[in-house]
Amino acid sequence: MTMQTIRLNNGVEMPLLGYGVFKVAPQECERCVSDALEVGYRLIDTAQAYFNEEGVGNAISKSGISRQDIFLVTKVWISNAGEEKAAASIDESLRKLKTGYIDLLLIHQAYGDVFGSWRAMEAAYRAGKVRAIGVSNFQAGRFFDFAHYVDIKPMVNQLQCNPLVQQRGIEPTLAEYGTKMMAWGPLGGEGAEGVVKSGLLASIGEGYGKTAAQVALRWLTQRGIVAIPKSTHMERMRQNLDIFDFTLTDEEMERIATLNCHDTGTVNFGDPQFVKYLVETYG
Ligand SMILES: NC(=O)c1ccc[n+]([C@@H]2O[C@H](COP(=O)([O-])OP(=O)(O)OC[C@H]3O[C@@H](n4cnc5c(N)ncnc54)[C@H](OP(=O)(O)O)[C@@H]3O)[C@@H](O)[C@H]2O)c1
Repeated sequence: MTMQTIRLNNGVEMPLLGYGVFKVAPQECERCVSDALEVGYRLIDTAQAYFNEEGVGNAISKSGISRQDIFLVTKVWISNAGEEKAAASIDESLRKLKTGYIDLLLIHQAYGDVFGSWRAMEAAYRAGKVRAIGVSNFQAGRFFDFAHYVDIKPMVNQLQCNPLVQQRGIEPTLAEYGTKMMAWGPLGGEGAEGVVKSGLLASIGEGYGKTAAQVALRWLTQRGIVAIPKSTHMERMRQNLDIFDFTLTDEEMERIATLNCHDTGTVNFGDPQFVKYLVETYG
C-alpha cells in the first residue's frame, strides 16, 4: 500500500489518511495506536480534550518507527485558549506525546480567545515546535474572519465531513487561503450508521470488492480531503486503510454527491445553547 499525501500551503506533506482516537479511553489508547501503527497508519489524530495524548505518545515511542515517518496531530482545547495558556498547553502536549515537535496543531473549537491561541501557535511554529498550524470546526464565515486577520494563514480546517455531510459550501473560502480540509466523522461517527450502511455506497463498493466504509473514505480522499477514521478493532483499522488500490469514476463521485443532506454538519456550532454549554463548562 502506498500512502498518498497532500501538500499544505507551507509545503509540508501530509498523509491523506490517518487514524483518529476520539472517545478511545486513555487506558486503551496505547494498544489502539500500537495496532494502528502496526497495520500501517502513519498519521495519528488526537486532542488535549481526548485525555489520551499519553497513550499516543507511549505507542509512538515504543513503536520503533522513526519519528519523522509519523505525522502527529493534536488540538488546543477551549480551556487553554489565549496566548499564555495555549503556549503552556503546547509544551504540556509535547511532554505527554513524548516528542520534540507536533506535525499539525489545531485550534479545536472557534470559541474563547482564538487570536491569542493563534499567536502562541505561530510562535511555536516559528520555534520549530510545530510543523503546521490550523483550526477545527470553523464554519465558513467564522473561518474567513479568522483567516483574514491572522498573520500565518491556517494550513488545515478539520470539519465533520462524509458523504452525508459534504462541506461543499466552505470549499471556496478554504481555497482562498490554500487551506486543506480534514474530515472528522468520515464514517458518520459512533452509533450513526447512515454512511457505513448506505445502500448506494455498498452497491458501488461491490464492483471493487470494497465495503461502504471504504467507498466513503476513498470518496473523501479523491476530493483531496484528509480522512481520519477511528476504530478500536484491528480488522476495521486494516479495512479502513485499504482504499488506495481502486479509483471511483467521475460518475460514481457524482452519484455519491447526491447523498449530501447536511452540508455544514449535524452540529450547530452557532447555537447559543451549545456555545453556552461549551464555554461555561470549559472556558
Ligand atoms: N475536531 C473535532 O471536533 C472532532 C470531532 C470528532 C472526531 N474527531 C476526530 O475524527 C476522528 C474520527 O471521527 P469519529 O471517531 O467521530 O468517527 P468515525 O471515524 O466516522 O466513526 C467511528 C465509528 O465507526 C465505527 N467503524 C470504524 N470503522 C468501521 C468500518 N469499517 N465499518 C463499520 N463501522 C466502523 C467505529 O466503531 P469501532 O471503534 O467499534 O470499530 C466507531 O463507532 C476521531 O477519532 C477524532 O480523531 C475530531
